Amino acid sequence: MSGGDVLVSARGLEVHFPIGGGFRRKPAGVLRAVDGVDLDIVRGETLGLVGESGCGKSTLGNALLRLVPTTGGTLTFDGTDLTGLQGRRLKELRRRAGMVFQDPFASLDPRRTVAQTVSEPLEVHGLRTGRDKATRVAELLELVGLDPGVAGRYPHEFSGGQRQRVGIARALAGEPDFLVCDEAIASLDVSVQAQVLNLLRRLQRQLGLTLLFISHDLSAVRHISDRIAVMYLGRVVEIGPAEAVGTDPQMPYTQALLSAVPLPHPKLERERKRIVLTGDVPSPAAVPSGCRFRTRCPYVFEPCDDVDPALQPVGAPGQQAACHLHGVVGTPATTPEGVTATP
Ligand SMILES: Nc1ncnc2c1ncn2[C@@H]1O[C@H](COP(=O)(O)OP(=O)(O)OP(=O)(O)O)[C@@H](O)[C@H]1O
Ligand SMILES: [Mg+2]
Repeated sequence: MSGGDVLVSARGLEVHFPIGGGFRRKPAGVLRAVDGVDLDIVRGETLGLVGESGCGKSTLGNALLRLVPTTGGTLTFDGTDLTGLQGRRLKELRRRAGMVFQDPFASLDPRRTVAQTVSEPLEVHGLRTGRDKATRVAELLELVGLDPGVAGRYPHEFSGGQRQRVGIARALAGEPDFLVCDEAIASLDVSVQAQVLNLLRRLQRQLGLTLLFISHDLSAVRHISDRIAVMYLGRVVEIGPAEAVGTDPQMPYTQALLSAVPLPHPKLERERKRIVLTGDVPSPAAVPSGCRFRTRCPYVFEPCDDVDPALQPVGAPGQQAACHLHGVVGTPATTPEGVTATP
């Protein structure tokens, strides 16, 4: 943790989905999409969130915005407990915390003009009316680098990058403090990705936004983030300053993820050692005991079977990793009867 003012805070956060149930049948098990996440997002920072497909990034992002119900743990936004938030206070959270979606084709209504789309949050939150509303829409379009003259046009008249700008303008309409960008550049052409990434960076600085930037593109995450969090099977397993996590990762899983990213310099690229993980990612419906990464970890040793490692300070200031290689700290695994296994 960098010690700044925390805007979003999760402790032991869980989103478990029932599986295998049906009409009048009890669920056969649970899918642990988010499974004990501890995370503090500092006001004004861009936090990158990376990890393999299915590790729970989107579910965590949605949970932080109260778009999926949590099944355990605590969650606060600007000091307010979000669990059980309803009515007017939930609506206020919706204004202050928003989402930029992956697919600007799917997330914009083809029958609504740009002005209608961008002004929707203004209407929902009763922020501007009449001519004020049109002025605000023009301001928002300019802010995201679009000509205010396009306000009367429809989504199909725009390129993917322009559509994503419209999506960003809508997300900014209510003057939020916090934005979750879930794979916000993934569906764009490579040449356009950098432009939208730079736009997000500029907006973050200009408006003092706090961003959670979810992506499987590690190069993009390293480019835009102040800090990076790495997720594996529903848990944050490493977090720290982008530079430290990107160049000196302390968790074997992060090391493997990074070793797969090509390096820009030809000499460095020739020397790059690829760590190939063996085995498949376990199902989030059958999370291994002890360290959840142990079934694929090249350094697995005795305590990994039994003790679930906690995040602990290691490496650079502010860097934390959940790995027994740095000392055995964590919760002993329990047997199904609730008896503590050998510590
Ligand atoms: N509504 C749901 N009901 C049941 N299971 C779900 C639901 N939403 C997500 N999951 C499961 O939760 C796990 C985490 O999914 P999630 O979409 O959060 O992963 P992700 O890291 O965002 O993946 P990707 O990189 O592919 O977007 C997956 O196993 C997924 O199938
Ligand atoms: Mg996702």
